[in-house]
Amino acid sequence: LTNDLQMVNENYIGAIFNLLYGSVLIISIIIYLIMLNWILLLTICLIVAITLILPKLIEKPLQKANQLISDSNQVYLDTLNNWLQGLEQLRQFAAGAKLFSVSQLASKKLEDANVKQTTYTKLLNAITGIASAIFGLIIFLLSGVLVKNGLLEISALMVVGNFRFYLNQAINQISNARGQMKGVKNLITEIDESTKSVQNLRKSGFTTPATIKTKGLGLQFSNGESLSYPDLQINQGEKILLTGDSGAGKSTLFKLILGDIKPSRGEIIFEDKDGNEIVPDLRKIGYFPQDPVVFPASILDNVTMFNEKLDSRVGKAVEEVNLASDLEKFDEGLKKKIDLDKLNISGGQRQKIVLARAKVHDSDIILIDEGTSAIDQKATMDILHNLLKSKATIVFIAHNFNTKMRGLFDREIHLVKE
Ligand SMILES: Nc1ncnc2c1ncn2[C@@H]1O[C@H](COP(=O)(O)OP(=O)(O)OP(=O)(O)O)[C@@H](O)[C@H]1O
Ligand SMILES: [Mg+2]
Repeated sequence: LTNDLQMVNENYIGAIFNLLYGSVLIISIIIYLIMLNWILLLTICLIVAITLILPKLIEKPLQKANQLISDSNQVYLDTLNNWLQGLEQLRQFAAGAKLFSVSQLASKKLEDANVKQTTYTKLLNAITGIASAIFGLIIFLLSGVLVKNGLLEISALMVVGNFRFYLNQAINQISNARGQMKGVKNLITEIDESTKSVQNLRKSGFTTPATIKTKGLGLQFSNGESLSYPDLQINQGEKILLTGDSGAGKSTLFKLILGDIKPSRGEIIFEDKDGNEIVPDLRKIGYFPQDPVVFPASILDNVTMFNEKLDSRVGKAVEEVNLASDLEKFDEGLKKKIDLDKLNISGGQRQKIVLARAKVHDSDIILIDEGTSAIDQKATMDILHNLLKSKATIVFIAHNFNTKMRGLFDREIHLVKE
């Protein structure tokens, strides 16, 4: 966006001043010529009209070239972003060369786009430069003829000579400015588009749903892959274990319920406790993604999500998710700051922190995606015991649960990949 704005600034805002300057020059020349000779005036008006049309020649390719810069810049930034995230891994596997080659490829494309744009800008300059030189010459010759036929005084020839210089300058300024301005027109429309507010996919009401039902739910991805779900019903207070092979669509089901993605077929129906269909308050659903995010802040803040009002609940939650024994090992306890670079907490501790987050936020419906996959069996058993005591509706995705763990849930929904 910064890059796009800069291009607009250079090619549009800057050009406005050149356009003004050129226009004032031409108007002054025309006023003087009205007083001097009408044939000269007519010729100049014709020339100015042609000049205004000239940038059309190069308008389309220049627009494309500007767009290409904008797109290549985006690709370049995305490439760096995606690859640098895994810098540690690349270093470990001595795969740094790949990082260089992909970033070089992306930067080469950006460079090529810049070269292309410069080429078209220079071409525009050349065309208008040549045109203004030819026009200037025509005017000079014309004034000569006029003088010869006694229609213009010889002294006027000197003045026209001066005019030629200013006229050249004005024509150049105007046609370049207009060419440049047209070149970024699409980009401006695009920037305007991007400032429009984003339509929220989630329709959120004010009621907490009691029952969640799905009917004929299916999803078609753009890459051709598709998922379809059996009709499901999740009742208030139920504790459901959601299992199924990898890729069966468990995580996707959560995203569908949360309204993060829209189904291609079928629907999700939310009902209140009297069985009436409602528009639910989706914020009342606590969601814990498969790859939980922690922040470089204290463990306490990571549990409360920076809401000090919840501080008093943390002690109990920490006990219930078996995090207390881990905290004892840290000098600062709950105040310990998580260091995302050095990863000073274990994968299991990270999951416990996120589970404690679920506890203190006390949602009526909790969706947990692989919440205990990195926690040992004994601790998992304790955590499940505590977690499943709550009144909330809980859907828990897990792969590797033994019979005893499964037994803690009211029922199991097993998804099968077609
Ligand atoms: N945006 C997407 N585009 C294309 N395919 C997708 C997309 N999101 C998910 N899928 C596909 O949908 C299928 C279900 O994915 P999902 O993440 O729901 O699986 P899962 O059951 O949670 O698996 P796991 O147990 O490994 O976490 C996968 O085959 C995946 O490749
Ligand atoms: Mg998943």
